[in-house]
Amino acid sequence: MKIAIAGAGYVGLVTGACLADFGHDVVCIDKDAGRIAALRRGEIPIFEPDLAGLVGTNLGAGRLSFTSELAGAVAGAEVVFIAVGTPSRRGDGHADLSYVHAVAREVAASVSGFTVVATKSTVPVGTGDEVARIIAAANPEADVAVVSNPEFLREGAAIEDFKRPDRIVVGVEDERARAVMTEVYRPLYLNQAPLVFTGRRTAEMIKYAANAFLAMKITFINEMADLCEAAGADVQQVARGMGLDNRIGGKFLHAGPGFGGSCFPKDTQALVRIGEDFGSPMRLVETTIAINEQRKRAMARRVIAACGGEVRGKTIGVLGLTFKPNTDDMREAPSIDIVRGLLDKGARVVAYDPQGMAAARALIEGLECGESAYDVAEGADALVLVTEWNEFRSLDLARLKAAMAAPVLVDLRNVYRHDEVARHGFAYTSIGRPVGAGDGGGLADAAE
Ligand SMILES: NC(=O)c1ccc[n+]([C@@H]2O[C@H](COP(=O)([O-])OP(=O)(O)OC[C@H]3O[C@@H](n4cnc5c(N)ncnc54)[C@H](O)[C@@H]3O)[C@@H](O)[C@H]2O)c1
Repeated sequence: MKIAIAGAGYVGLVTGACLADFGHDVVCIDKDAGRIAALRRGEIPIFEPDLAGLVGTNLGAGRLSFTSELAGAVAGAEVVFIAVGTPSRRGDGHADLSYVHAVAREVAASVSGFTVVATKSTVPVGTGDEVARIIAAANPEADVAVVSNPEFLREGAAIEDFKRPDRIVVGVEDERARAVMTEVYRPLYLNQAPLVFTGRRTAEMIKYAANAFLAMKITFINEMADLCEAAGADVQQVARGMGLDNRIGGKFLHAGPGFGGSCFPKDTQALVRIGEDFGSPMRLVETTIAINEQRKRAMARRVIAACGGEVRGKTIGVLGLTFKPNTDDMREAPSIDIVRGLLDKGARVVAYDPQGMAAARALIEGLECGESAYDVAEGADALVLVTEWNEFRSLDLARLKAAMAAPVLVDLRNVYRHDEVARHGFAYTSIGRPVGAGDGGGLADAAE
């Protein structure tokens, strides 16, 4: 099939590379000409495991191409995916739909023949109606079926998620689109991935409902962790005991510094606004957002407490900056609030992250960066593990201690075992585990 994808970011690029790998003929379009020029040279503008290889193979095979000219790509396409950003609108938290609407206007001017326009961007309920209206108003002759096809991939495991999804949701209002979308995803359907057809508004709602629910699940276990600390229980054992119940499931039950990233913060905000617009408040989601906001800053206070209540003039080493491992994405990462909280109290903060340092330096004024975990430990009064990259899971604790000014380790991801760290002479703080708890060992699922 001939497929055009507007937006070559995390979602558009992964979608394009994977659909080309299924054998489709895919053109990815981005208005960022520098990004397109880099992609044409085979350079990948984002860090996502295995993406470079997949793009290279399909570029070489002639199934994948890149352009900044939308018109030509859309004119020849049977399906046009919209995969542009829908960030929080400045000031009010609504999803900013200006990029989606702009693509709709451009698509209207270029479509020829029956074309399915599939919105992959996360958009509020009713956006598909508006996209259809924009296209019809701009080009009354256009024969277009607008469908909702939300994306559920996780950064860091995006290709695996796209190729082996739990489900593919497609919201259609025009029956002709059902056959087209079935054909797009036929290779996955053969792999038994359930293709769930719904109405368009329902599909749009499923995406927000799923993200808000996961954000609530994380926030629930984070609050539970605080209660466990106060009551002398171990949150990791509580999570395991809960998660073994099939009705609950063990994923997204790892206590930590609060959720961040490119989706949960903005999507929970947007869902609250959608609820307000429909006069149907999303109170659980509102509370989730408030708890999470407070938590990120509270993590800085936790570090300060571990340093004896004062960090002015002290050097704090930070391990991990991205919102989760295996991505270079710094959007809404908890590290931003944590580092700022420490800088505000007069600390010097030196961080190391395998992929996120350039973006983090641009976001956080005053942040210094080191070249490795051991470099960051040099002369540090405390080390804070913020993002559980694999390379931080089995650090040489004796080497760290020898490098540090004071052996203080704050493990916000419960990667280490208390007894092991204590044996090396560290003062150790983790999340929701009483002193002496020993069954940590990196239970956190790095791919979440
Ligand atoms: N990142 C994720 O993990 C993830 C997962 C599921 C869903 N989503 C959703 O997918 C959408 C895209 O997210 P992302 O993380 O890929 O965003 P992104 O910011 O990485 O990429 C968006 C791209 O669209 C381009 N763009 C903007 N306007 C354009 C236009 N008019 N024509 C062509 N290109 C244009 C930008 O230059 C940018 O490269 C969002 O709605 C997001 O909520 C993201």
